[in-house]
Amino acid sequence: PHYWAIVPAAGQGSRMGHTRPKQYLPLHGKPILQHTLERLNLPRIKGIVVCIAANDSDWQTLTLPRTVMSVVGGVERCHSVLNGLQALQPQAQPNDWVLVHDAARPCVRPADIDKLMTQLADHPVGGLLAVPVRDTMKRVSALPPQPLPHPFWGERGVEVIETVNRENLWHALTPQMFRLEALTLALQHVLNQQETVTDEAQAMERQGYRPVLIEGHADNIKVTLPQDLNLAELYLQQQDFS
Ligand code: CTP
Ligand code: MG
Repeated sequence: PHYWAIVPAAGQGSRMGHTRPKQYLPLHGKPILQHTLERLNLPRIKGIVVCIAANDSDWQTLTLPRTVMSVVGGVERCHSVLNGLQALQPQAQPNDWVLVHDAARPCVRPADIDKLMTQLADHPVGGLLAVPVRDTMKRVSALPPQPLPHPFWGERGVEVIETVNRENLWHALTPQMFRLEALTLALQHVLNQQETVTDEAQAMERQGYRPVLIEGHADNIKVTLPQDLNLAELYLQQQDFS
C-alpha cells in the first residue's frame, strides 16, 4: 500500500485571537503551514491533500513541495478530513495508508512520522502518535456551562471528584494513520449519526477498532493560543530543522 497525507487547514484559529488564521502566522518568518508541509514532505508519502477554507486568501502565498493539492474544507475538522479523503479516492487504493496531520502542528519530527509508518506498516487498523501523560490527573465534579472561553473556569474553582490513574492515559497527537476506506467509512458513519469526534482515532474506535499508540514527542504541540507561538519557535530552533 501507498502512503498519503491529509492536512486539515480550514480552521479559523479563533482561540489565537488573530484576524489571520493561525496556520498562516509566521514562525521564524515562515508560515506555520509551510513548516508543517515541509515536515510531511517525506520520500514515502506519495501525495499531500491540504483542506483549506473556502475564503482562504493566504494559500497562494505558500511555496509548495512536490505533490501537494488543495481541497475546500468543511464546517468541522471531520468534514474537512472527509473532503480530503474523497479527493484521494480516484488515485488511491482502499487499503492505502492515510496520515491525517493538523496544519497547526509544525513541530512534528520527521523521524516520528517515519516511526509511525514503519511500526504500523503491517497492522490491519493503524494508529497515531501519542505521549504518556506526565501530570497527575483529576476528574472534576461537573462540566461548566458550555462553551467557556479558555482558560476561564471562574474564580470559584472547580471541585475534585477523584484522581485518575495516569498510568493508563496518553495525549493523542497527530499524524493519525489509518486505511483509506476504513477511515472514510468511520467518518461517514459519525457524520450520518450527527455525532462529533475530536480526532480520527475516535471515529475508528466507534467502529470497534483499536488504534495503536506510537510514542512520539511532547514538542509536537498544536499551536492554539497566542503563547504557543513562542513555544513553537523555541521547539523548531531546538530541533534544528528550521
Ligand atoms: N480544521 C479544519 N477544518 C475545520 C476546523 C479545523 O481543517 N472546520 C483544522 C485546523 O485548521 C487545524 C486543525 O484542524 O489545523 C486542528 O483544529 P484547531 O486546532 O481547533 O484549529 P482551529 O479550529 O482553526 O482553531 P480554533 O478551534 O481555536 O478556532
Ligand atoms: Mg477548532
